[in-house]
Amino acid sequence: LTGERIIVVSNREPYIHTRKGERIEVHRPASGLVTAVEPVMRACSGTWIAHGSGTADMEASDRHDRVPVPPEHPEYTLRRIWLSKEEENGYYYGFANEGLWPLCHIAHVRPIFRSSDWEKYQAINQRFADAVVKEADSDNPVVLVQDYHFALLPGMIRAALPKATIITFWHIPWPNPESFGICPWREELLKGMLGSTILGFHTPFHRKNFLETVDRYLETRIEHESSTVTHNGKLTMVESYPISIQWPPPWQERQPTVEECRAGLRQELGAAPDHKVGIGVDRLDYTKGILERFRAVEKLLELHPELQGNFTFVQIAAPSRSALDDYQAFDAQVHNLALRINQRYSSGSWKPIVLKAEHHEPEVVNRYYRGADVCVVTSLHDGMNLVAKEFVASRDDEQGGLVLSQFTGAAHELHEALVVNPYHIEQTAQALHRAVNMPDLEQRERMRSMRALVRDFNVYRWAGRMLLDAARVRQREKLSAR
Ligand code: G6P
Repeated sequence: LTGERIIVVSNREPYIHTRKGERIEVHRPASGLVTAVEPVMRACSGTWIAHGSGTADMEASDRHDRVPVPPEHPEYTLRRIWLSKEEENGYYYGFANEGLWPLCHIAHVRPIFRSSDWEKYQAINQRFADAVVKEADSDNPVVLVQDYHFALLPGMIRAALPKATIITFWHIPWPNPESFGICPWREELLKGMLGSTILGFHTPFHRKNFLETVDRYLETRIEHESSTVTHNGKLTMVESYPISIQWPPPWQERQPTVEECRAGLRQELGAAPDHKVGIGVDRLDYTKGILERFRAVEKLLELHPELQGNFTFVQIAAPSRSALDDYQAFDAQVHNLALRINQRYSSGSWKPIVLKAEHHEPEVVNRYYRGADVCVVTSLHDGMNLVAKEFVASRDDEQGGLVLSQFTGAAHELHEALVVNPYHIEQTAQALHRAVNMPDLEQRERMRSMRALVRDFNVYRWAGRMLLDAARVRQREKLSAR
């Protein structure tokens, strides 16, 4: 596939332009998908098609809705699609985030499926398919389709461009057939996805769930040996490709030292130099286990009173999907719980939980990672979780502990983390205690192995493996057509 122009499609755009009075600001959204795919796009160039969601996106784009990015030194084109409020409500908030998101995460939030949302989801998938056809400069482009917003897109692109190479990656978990089966439009979604040449999931477990789901609901031929599904004469390779991050990490050259980050963070907290700090970085999302994490911090202080006044947990929580009731309710629960725990334990100027519920740019987040003693990831279910990998990448001092939920894809790779069941509050509290008291040597040993893994299996390898598999499938098709 060398030399081919790549088209990426995702809902979330990698750069958002917003108006602040006289000025236009650009920021990078909190999105695991964007974190992973953006460096790949910078390396490959091409076009990224996404929903133009910023208040100044239109002003910042040309009359073909395009803008070269990254803004400082452009390396590829961002092509924006405009959605009306009604379309966004049905396709993004409704079907994608009230339907598919809870459906796939099984986080005990009941999925909602409305026919009106489904109609918008189909229409918007078609709108993006039309944009792909318009952007393609040949009849066999390479298209990278991202995530659950676009389950129908591969089928639609395939109908218009039968020879396209379509690589679809599902960034969230795939549930078992029984759970997926409650979706009223399960067959349509599955058929749409099988328009792909390559269909990728984070883990072998999600891949297996998908194959079982297809087996249950569609007439297909599944070859387990080669991990392929043939539907209506069209072959799709279904594989696991654990996503990762850029390596070397982006700010390596120009970041403050770990000592500076440690001192800066303690100064911000008004704490002593040896004060212990834990960090959590998430979107404010009910799948992230933020309430369980706060309860674990509370339990830690209860079981180990010597940490009262000497340990602070800083939670960075980027507001997310705030138009939805479930997200508003969750936001309130998180604030209330932090308040209750802080009221219980605060003394003088110290409080145990510092909740920073606002957007932070990645470079700022990196400084928090470097200044902390432990990073805590307690997702109740997560495709991969790139916060865990970002924390590891940030620690070139080979220090710092990682407490990691067993229900993340990352736990299948980062075996040297302290792996916990986030529903088990005492266990998480004990892991936190162990992390803040871990001898330097043990921290180094664990961190070194985790860093080697993230370095060797970085995001370029993730993308490279999919492109290579796509080239193989293409070759196989070419030969069998002879
Ligand atoms: C997850 C999803 C991404 C999404 C991100 C942020 O990582 O898999 O598709 O972009 O969350 O959510 P948002 O709704 O703000 O795009």
